[in-house]
Amino acid sequence: MDGNVGNEEIIDLTIGFVKSKLHDAEGGHDWWHTQRVWKMARRIAKKEDVDLLTVELAALLHDIADAKFHRGDEELGPKIAREFLTDQPLDPQLVDHVCDIIRNMSWKGGIPLSDFRSPEMEVVQDADRLDALGAIGIARAFNYGGFKNRPLFDPDIEPQLSMTREEYKNSTAPTINHFHEKLLLLRDRMNTETGRKIAEQRHHYLEQFLDQFYAEWNAQDG
Ligand code: ADP
Ligand code: NI
Repeated sequence: MDGNVGNEEIIDLTIGFVKSKLHDAEGGHDWWHTQRVWKMARRIAKKEDVDLLTVELAALLHDIADAKFHRGDEELGPKIAREFLTDQPLDPQLVDHVCDIIRNMSWKGGIPLSDFRSPEMEVVQDADRLDALGAIGIARAFNYGGFKNRPLFDPDIEPQLSMTREEYKNSTAPTINHFHEKLLLLRDRMNTETGRKIAEQRHHYLEQFLDQFYAEWNAQDG
């Protein structure tokens, strides 16, 4: 069996594992979110000098136990990923790298957990951030807001632009605030050239959506 066939089998096993972990996930963090991030990560990786297997495994495993759905436990995702990966015929260094990517990828108010970075992490992080932008980004934000029973918008609650990791995690603000607190900041934080280009167009779509939303809110549209 040559190396590539082995990798394909590992990817297939990983897909099955991730699907089983996400079978009752919230609609914005479900298997389909993971599948989109995986596809986008592959697209971005084509233009970058990265190890594709590391990128694919990190993309597939990045949200298997998101801390915000597990009482804030930020170690659970990397731990479950490690248990799964250790059972596969993989180089232990690759397993460590994938777990480091998963542990350090999340946004949490734009403040990183540590200063870990790698070209592979930059690709997966861009792919995950792109799924927070554009039409799908809007759909995901309101799905999450509904899941948390948040108001759509409240003109009396201002967006908070500099939150600590804790404040960001505990926020109960209206969903529109999330656009100002996170989504509109992503375009300028992309790591790769490919990511930046796609983010530019998806960012513009968010701005158009917000213009229309505020116009309708004030009965000033049409
Ligand atoms: P983090 O939890 O680090 O912000 P995620 O990647 O888990 O990042 O967030 C993914 C997506 O979940 C966001 O892009 C958004 O669509 C949705 N989401 C997360 N937090 C909120 C929030 N407070 N309000 C609305 N949507 C949110
Ligand atoms: Ni994600």
